[in-house]
Amino acid sequence: MSQFSPRLSSSYNQSSIYRNEIEDWAKDVTSERSDKLLLNALAGEVVAPQPTWLMRQAGRYLPEYRELRSKTSGFLELCLTPALASEVTLQPIRRFGFDGAIIFADILLVPYALGQRLWFVEGEGPRLEPLNLAKLKFDRAMLAPVFETIGRVKSELPGSTTLIGFAGAPWTVATYMIAGGGSDDSAAARLFAYQQPRAFAALIDVLVEATADYLIGQIDAGAEALQIFESWAGTIPVQDVDGFSLRPIRTIIDKVRRHSPATPVIVFPRGAGTNYPRYAQETGATAISLDAHTSIRWAQGAFPPATVLQGNLDPISLVAGGEALDREIDRILSDTDGNPHIFNLGHGIRPETPIAHVEQLVKRIRSGRA
Ligand code: CP3
Repeated sequence: MSQFSPRLSSSYNQSSIYRNEIEDWAKDVTSERSDKLLLNALAGEVVAPQPTWLMRQAGRYLPEYRELRSKTSGFLELCLTPALASEVTLQPIRRFGFDGAIIFADILLVPYALGQRLWFVEGEGPRLEPLNLAKLKFDRAMLAPVFETIGRVKSELPGSTTLIGFAGAPWTVATYMIAGGGSDDSAAARLFAYQQPRAFAALIDVLVEATADYLIGQIDAGAEALQIFESWAGTIPVQDVDGFSLRPIRTIIDKVRRHSPATPVIVFPRGAGTNYPRYAQETGATAISLDAHTSIRWAQGAFPPATVLQGNLDPISLVAGGEALDREIDRILSDTDGNPHIFNLGHGIRPETPIAHVEQLVKRIRSGRA
């Protein structure tokens, strides 16, 4: 096997205007380096120790979350009560000192604000009323509590912590809206798209508009970086990756950039497989988050050279802890050595994760550098 020298050996032909814009932007931002290590990494700087946060870092593995959650009537209430949502956002920051704080909310707040009734069944997951396309109308005011949460968190966050806003990508959100809840194979959404292509395209368009509007609202409220979750990228029929996912994400990022050119955007196309490089090349993403099944070395060779990487740690290795966890952390640190990288999981943290293993992770990343 030849040694990859990732930044140099990429086969990518740097032709996209987008890439150049991002690089110019990265230079500007790097020239005024901030105390926020995560923003510096997103600007292309190699930061040591690597900035770290974990997807779903606020949640059920934390006793302080479970306690606060047990006092609320439901998950939606928690998301829409700024005093509680901001507290929950800050819990993992206080405990572990992560470099990024992701605002406590949910990707399904967009269908909620489009008027599709949403509720969460304890121990099961989200439920949505049957979809009625004609009735969807985005009401930004319904998301005002999220914007207020962002403002509250911002005022309490340490100066070195980056505040991350987020939304689901249109395909991923559509899979829930069409199935009325979660599914492993997105079969209902795929069936709908085959049988009613026009209606499906209209739904994606509605979601593009609403999501861009929501993300812009998050930036105006104080979000400093954004992540777009395409959690079900792995279920998109290959012929539709462009129309259902790449183009909608690119349109959202275009709209966000027009409003706020300096805000970095991380895209997480979980399960994208061989399509991963297209997310790096065609969406305008600043950074790409890797799932646990995608090789960092391969990504370094296949993505445009300026793409910042995030993620890759198997959430199950964090449940396992011990030497296996150390080995996986060291592998990621070694594979990304000399390149800008944000340490994160390949998917959300599991509720059964022991706190001690998260402490082990943070300690090793911060002290275990060669
Ligand atoms: O990362 C964070 O700490 C911020 C909060 C956050 C939540 N959901 C809180 C949450 C984020 C970023 C999300 C994203 C999200 N929500 C995704 C994309 C990421 C991924 O995991 O793929 C998806 C698909 C959803 C939809 C959703 N919300 C599902 C499928 C579920 C039920 C399954 C589950 O994990 O419980 C939720 C509920 C949810 N969202 C919880 C939390 C903390 C659990 C609610 C509880 O306390 O009971």
